[in-house]
Amino acid sequence: MFVVRGGRPLRGRVSVSGAKNAALPIMAAALSARGTTLLRGVPELVDVSTLSQVLQSLGMTVERHADGTLALTAEDDQRCLADYELVRRMRASVCVLGPLLGRRGRACVSLPGGCNIGHRPIDLHLKGLRALGAEITIDRGYVFAKADQLIGTDIYLGGSFGSTVTGTCNVLCAAVFAKGTTTISSAACEPEVVDLGNYLNEMGARIEGLGTPFLRIEGVEELNAVEHTVIPDRIEAATLLVAAAITGGCLQIDNVEPTHLAAVFDVLRMMGVGIEISGKSLTVIAPDKLRSLDVTALPYPGIPTDVQAQLTALLSLANGISVVTDKIFPDRFMHIPELMRMGANVRREGASSIISGIGTLTGACVMASDLRASAALLLAALAADGESVIRRVYHLDRGYERLERKLNDVGADIERVIDLPENMPHSLQLSVEEQRPLAIDSSDVPAPKFLSRAEAARQRAES
Ligand code: EPU
Repeated sequence: MFVVRGGRPLRGRVSVSGAKNAALPIMAAALSARGTTLLRGVPELVDVSTLSQVLQSLGMTVERHADGTLALTAEDDQRCLADYELVRRMRASVCVLGPLLGRRGRACVSLPGGCNIGHRPIDLHLKGLRALGAEITIDRGYVFAKADQLIGTDIYLGGSFGSTVTGTCNVLCAAVFAKGTTTISSAACEPEVVDLGNYLNEMGARIEGLGTPFLRIEGVEELNAVEHTVIPDRIEAATLLVAAAITGGCLQIDNVEPTHLAAVFDVLRMMGVGIEISGKSLTVIAPDKLRSLDVTALPYPGIPTDVQAQLTALLSLANGISVVTDKIFPDRFMHIPELMRMGANVRREGASSIISGIGTLTGACVMASDLRASAALLLAALAADGESVIRRVYHLDRGYERLERKLNDVGADIERVIDLPENMPHSLQLSVEEQRPLAIDSSDVPAPKFLSRAEAARQRAES
């Protein structure tokens, strides 16, 4: 868990890592290459090591060189099983489905299970692969897919919530090996899909229309390994922008692709945040007062759903009423009750949250439920008066590289400790004096549970 001492404006310079959501499908697509793929800018994350294990189980070697480059080589191309034990740890493991089917002609991939941000089916992935001629069955929780030769065709990938990011990646990775021409309409336009497409083209694929909803792919027989640098993480950049704004600070943020962040700049500027762009760097200056605003998360180039929770944390301190709507994941609001523990005034209404801005948040003990919710809670804790505890920060480690170190380097006070009673800050516990008037019988008042480390170790050993 994190113990965060809030109320410190962040000032200084910080650099963004490579994009998780670009790195994962690109690593999976390396299954398709002959030879050794060298990827630069792959962040060191739990999700990256989980996918590395999936790829190793599929006959690849995955090594991190001293300079940070990730080297991937397909040694054994007979293996096609992505097991439940690995896939259940990370949904993005499903990205191996398209490359396996395209390159090896068959795949058996566990269906990803439930998820804290809402219902996440993969029907569109399967629809696209079936259209290419794959025979697909679902049996005992696994997707079995096979095709001796995929055949190019016209595919429509739109669903009730727009296109699908990893679905487009899967269909793209299969279609590059299909005989003839494939068109994908309503393809996802996210920069991470473009990065994957560029990488496939560097390997010898023939994809046109990247970054638009219409893709045209001419099938090829093989792809050769190349070196590729993953794009900067626009979600991390947006999280850092909010960190400066919410703490009343001023940050220079390096390694940013500003064109990927137009919608985020727009809403932050409308809230009063100062943003200056200089090449691949940004300077962000918090305003004296934040203005409220209505924000809707939409497919790219709209506001990313992956920034919705962080913006909610920021708007909880803005002057006035804001409405935040998520049109991609309409149930992605697990952070709301936790923000309310810090004093935020938020009401959930269907796919929206209605936020009535308050002057300050107060430190509290809160629980992270998913990756972006944990980022939102961390941001709120950085702004809050007093100490906060954020539990289950393993969610954060899945998708942000060394975030607490980066934030501490620019003035935050975040301590990573083991989630044990003795590590709970005293300031977050009710004292006996505070509890006494609340108890019916004052003899019921429990003594505060501050254990010495030795006593806690003794109790653990006994239990
Ligand atoms: N959808 C379907 N059918 C499908 C696929 C998706 O109905 O077959 C729906 C989803 O339920 C959702 C919408 O379409 O309502 C968009 O889902 P999408 O498939 O685009 O999401 P994803 O590919 O599973 C990626 C990112 C997510 C990010 C979303 C939306 C990766 C590894 N994950 O997920 O990132 O929120 O796109 O941009 O790229 C995160 O990083 O924290 C994260 C959750």
